Formats: sequence, structure tokens, C-alpha cells
Amino acid sequence: MAKIPAVLVVDQDAKARYDAKRLVKASRFIVAGEAGFGTDAVSLAVELEPDVVLVGMKEPLVRSLQTVESLLNALPETPIIVYSASREIELARRAMLAGARDFLAMPANAEDMGKSITAVLESEERRQMRLRGQTAAWGPQGSVITVFGAKGGVGKTTVAVNLAVALVQETGQAVALVDGDNGFGDVSGMLNITPERNVVDLTRDLSKVTRETLPKYMVQHASGLNVLAAPAQTMDWRSVKPEDFRKMIDLLSKSHEIVVIDTAGLLNDITLAALESASLVLWVLTTEYASVRDSLRALEALRSASYAEERIRIMINDLAMRNGVSAGTIGETLGHEIFWRVPFDQRVRQGAQMGEPAVLKYPSAAGARNLTDLARTVVGIRSRRQGLLERLGLFRRRAPAAQAEGEGGTKAKENQSK
Ligand SMILES: Nc1ncnc2c1ncn2[C@@H]1O[C@H](COP(=O)(O)OP(=O)(O)O)[C@@H](O)[C@H]1O
Ligand SMILES: [Mg+2]
Repeated sequence: MAKIPAVLVVDQDAKARYDAKRLVKASRFIVAGEAGFGTDAVSLAVELEPDVVLVGMKEPLVRSLQTVESLLNALPETPIIVYSASREIELARRAMLAGARDFLAMPANAEDMGKSITAVLESEERRQMRLRGQTAAWGPQGSVITVFGAKGGVGKTTVAVNLAVALVQETGQAVALVDGDNGFGDVSGMLNITPERNVVDLTRDLSKVTRETLPKYMVQHASGLNVLAAPAQTMDWRSVKPEDFRKMIDLLSKSHEIVVIDTAGLLNDITLAALESASLVLWVLTTEYASVRDSLRALEALRSASYAEERIRIMINDLAMRNGVSAGTIGETLGHEIFWRVPFDQRVRQGAQMGEPAVLKYPSAAGARNLTDLARTVVGIRSRRQGLLERLGLFRRRAPAAQAEGEGGTKAKENQSK
């Protein structure tokens, strides 16, 4: 442990807090802060991110136990030690059931306190190592494609859903689609599925999910696409922390060759996490002036945060039919070539509204063919050149059988998918 661990002391009783703090200091640790029970404790813990939390326990137990549980919800990885003047086994048992990692009978001396803090920190470190080992065994990382746009209504979800389905059809590989729109995600509607679990459940259960249980969090669409839905209540997103969202994408990309993420039309914490996880960003905008302006603003914000921009590809979705900004001007304004252009297509809209993606329902419609081509271009099927992901060194293929190097391999793949 490089830095000296900091301990947050939580107790309703000021005198008890004082005693506990004294012990923490005497045992060579730092006191990060102190708080009473309930929300006080939780908000301070979130702000300070201590290494360990000490919670005092006395009758009525409910308040202490609730505080332990809320602290765990907010900071699941931070070990909690409960202390009490009571030496009753039953009390200790209830503290442990609530999630405490150790129980310290008071009065204790500095040595007891020090041992307890060291023990819970070491056990947490071992848990983290197991977790890393476990997920490392899941396999190498697949590609993550984040579909972003600086505005609502530009066609992000339509592109994400059709692209994801087309990727399954064209590659036969494991593809996951994550609804990362923490405003009003509508991936489920566009695929007409009824999820039982969603992003909130998976991010909450990250530390215990295994390769075997992961599918339970997703819905398998008729196309074979694995969908991780957004919660039905947008407020439920508040319990999803950006770093957990990132870890979740990491996990999904170890069991899927490609993960597609749909996002909200603004740069919030979750969108930023989705952009950071991305190997490729498909940036959707229309030719409307406002859409171009907002894209420029978002791009500038990312630039000032030193975002690795080379993964961004600009896509025009031709929803704005008249008086639009020209493609040339858009490219110049954003400082990026236009990578793709999706035509306006009534069938694409109908498919989205009926919950049947156009690439499945109307495969010969112009918009559907365009989106299937997008999938092929992204992974490099049919094009004489390597796929975009491959060129960027980001694509991982599963079945090596028909896969040779270079063009021959691309051909073989093409025939296979026919
Ligand atoms: N290429 C297209 N042609 C016709 N309609 C489209 C096209 N792309 C998107 N739409 C429609 O535009 C509307 C907004 O699309 P949506 O994907 O929900 O946007 P966003 O996710 O950016 O808010 C939807 O009704 C969708 O069906
Ligand atoms: Mg959307």
C-alpha cells in the first residue's frame, strides 16, 4: 500500500466518534472525516472516497444497519468495519449480514484497530485480484463501437440497432447492443423486446457476474443479437456510476467480439464513459445547422479533454431534407472527413416504429442496404481493403477456419456469409 489509508468514522454519538478517531490515529491511519448516520455519512463517503469506513453500532440497530447498507450501495468496494460496546454475537452477526467486513468490540486499543483496518484492506485487495483474475480469464477484448450524436432525434438509436443486427447477420459473431441512453433509452422499443433486467442490474452485480450468468442480464433478440436494455425508469440510472458502466462494457467486450453502445444526445457522465470505452465512435449528425453546431461544440469539449479523436468517424443521416449544410462544409467545420451517409428512407422509419429493424424487415430498401453496408465496411467484409476496425488494429475475429491473411481471407469470409 503506497499511501496511508484514510478512514471515515460514522457514528451518531460525538463522544464515540471522538474515541474512534483517536484510535484510528493511534494506529497510524489517517482520519478522512466524520459523519452521523444516514445520508450524511453516504454523501461524505462519496465525496471523500475513504479506504475504510468505521460505523458505530448501538440500539436501535436499524439506523446503524441501514447506514452500513447505504454505504455499501454507494461504495461497494470500500470495506466497512462495525464497532460496538456490546459483545453480543447476535449483534456482530447482524452487522456482518448487512455487509460489514469486520466487527470490533469496544473499548479496543490502537493495536486491535490497526489489525482490523489492515485485515479488511488486505481482504479487499485479494478480492480485487480474484476479480481481475476472473475477468482476465474471460478472454481477450472485442471491439466497442459507440454510436454518438450531440443531439436527440438525429438517428443514433436507429443506426445503432440496425448496425448491431446487421453485424450479427454479416459476421455470425457474438454481438452485444447496450442501451446507454440515460435519458429515455428506446432500444427495447425499436427491437420490440421486453427485458427483465437491465444496465442497472448488471452494473450492481458486476463483482459476482460470471460468463455463465451474464446472459441472464440480456435479452437475445430473434436475430441472435444480445441486448442489454436501459432501465424503464430513467431515474434508476442515478445508481449507475460511470466507472461501473465502463467496467461493464469491458466485461461485455470479453464475451462478445463486438459491443455496440447507443448513447444519449449529450455529453453526460455515462456518455463520456461510453466514448472512453470506444474503439470506434460513429458520430451521427444531420445536415441541420443546429446539429452541426452542437456537434462542433461537443467535439471542442472532447478536444479540450484531450480525447483521442482518431477513433471518431462522422456519419450524416439525411433526415433534414431541405436547406441543409453541405457535406463539404460539415467536414471542414468538424475537421473530419465524412465517413458515411445514410439516406432518408421511410422503411427505416417504419421498421424503427414497428420494432422490426429495417435491415431485417425490409432488407432491400435503400436505407437498410446502406446500414448493412456500414456493418460490412466496419468489419471489412466485401470491401477489397481491410475493414475499418482491422485497419485500426481493433478487430478480433473468432473463427480462424476460413480466415487467411489479406484479400483471400476477406473473400472467403464473403462467400461464407452468402
Ligand atoms: N435514415 C432514416 N430515414 C428515415 N427515418 C429515420 C432515419 N434515421 C432515423 N429515422 C427516424 O428518425 C427518428 C429519430 O431517430 P432516433 O434513432 O430515435 O434518433 P436519436 O436516437 O438520435 O434520438 C425516428 O423516428 C427514426 O425512425
Ligand atoms: Mg436514441
